[in-house]
Amino acid sequence: MIDLRSDTVTRPTPGMLNAMFSAKVGDDVFGEDPTIHELQQKAADLFGMEAALFCPSGTMTNQIAVNVHTRPGDEIIMHEYSHIFNYEGGGAAFNSGCQIRLLPGKRGLLDANTVEKSVNNRFDIHAARTSLVTVENTCNKGGGSCYSMDTLKEIREVTRLNDLAYHLDGARLFNALVISGDSPKDYGSFFDSISICLSKGLGCPVGSLLLGSKAFIQEALRVRKKLGGGMRQAGILAAAGIYALDHHIERLAEDHTKAQVLRSALEQCSWVRDMESVETNIVIFYLHENRDPQLFMEKLESEGIRIIGMGQGKLRMVTHLDVSEEDIEKTAEVLKKL
Ligand SMILES: Cc1ncc(COP(=O)(O)O)c(C=O)c1O
Repeated sequence: MIDLRSDTVTRPTPGMLNAMFSAKVGDDVFGEDPTIHELQQKAADLFGMEAALFCPSGTMTNQIAVNVHTRPGDEIIMHEYSHIFNYEGGGAAFNSGCQIRLLPGKRGLLDANTVEKSVNNRFDIHAARTSLVTVENTCNKGGGSCYSMDTLKEIREVTRLNDLAYHLDGARLFNALVISGDSPKDYGSFFDSISICLSKGLGCPVGSLLLGSKAFIQEALRVRKKLGGGMRQAGILAAAGIYALDHHIERLAEDHTKAQVLRSALEQCSWVRDMESVETNIVIFYLHENRDPQLFMEKLESEGIRIIGMGQGKLRMVTHLDVSEEDIEKTAEVLKKL
């Protein structure tokens, strides 16, 4: 099966498994796992931030950030495509008692003007207190779309002037960095918190990191405990993360090339009604109204290819470590014949 549903379906490579087998471990709830310490320090240094916290998932790192940056009854500004709003089970309301102000914008990307207009007047007691802005780079539902550094800095300025926290859901941040050539330290210099996932394009079986100041991470540690995310000898997993940061970042460019091959195949298919422009490793396309997306996916599956539907007629293919160039060529051929 050629599995293009998500970049989360990868299995650890032999090199990664070796690193996991030889990891030194300890009880991390007692703060005694040397490999977790090493991963956290490595990530913090990479982004030029003070501290990092290893967590089981990107959902948890986002939810911890929301919890630390807000108080119950607060309002969070984010794009209507945000993972935090669409795919985290209502966690911002459940875990932190917050309401969300959803904003429009091209392909999941906010702009500073729209954000500025949506900040509630802090002296108006009728309005919820706006306390946090979150952005997602790359944006999953936007089809792997990327922010420009200028836009991110303009939004930072709005958050600074209004005393709002600024969180980045960077589940696929390294895909954006590989495309733009920006450095992680550029990002670390102006976000209050950053979440990065090791279990997507970087190919780890489990794990995400939350980055921020020492004081922020100290609070985050308490929230992780409350959410049941304290792990014991998880250095086995952290070793995979260290390996991925050392070996799996630059190769993301290969996934981007593979996505371009799929884009070019889809461009030749008369049954494709529309397609988002392909910037990173995610390809989103729409079928003509007379084609049933479910039947289409079943047909592809019968040809040995799995893709995923995202609702509202959106279909998604994601390239990753576990699909070879041959797999992509085969997929392109099948698509063109359908
Ligand atoms: C943009 C984005 N943020 C957060 C997450 C959550 O990550 P996890 O599945 O590790 O909870 C995902 C998962 O796909 C994602 O795409």
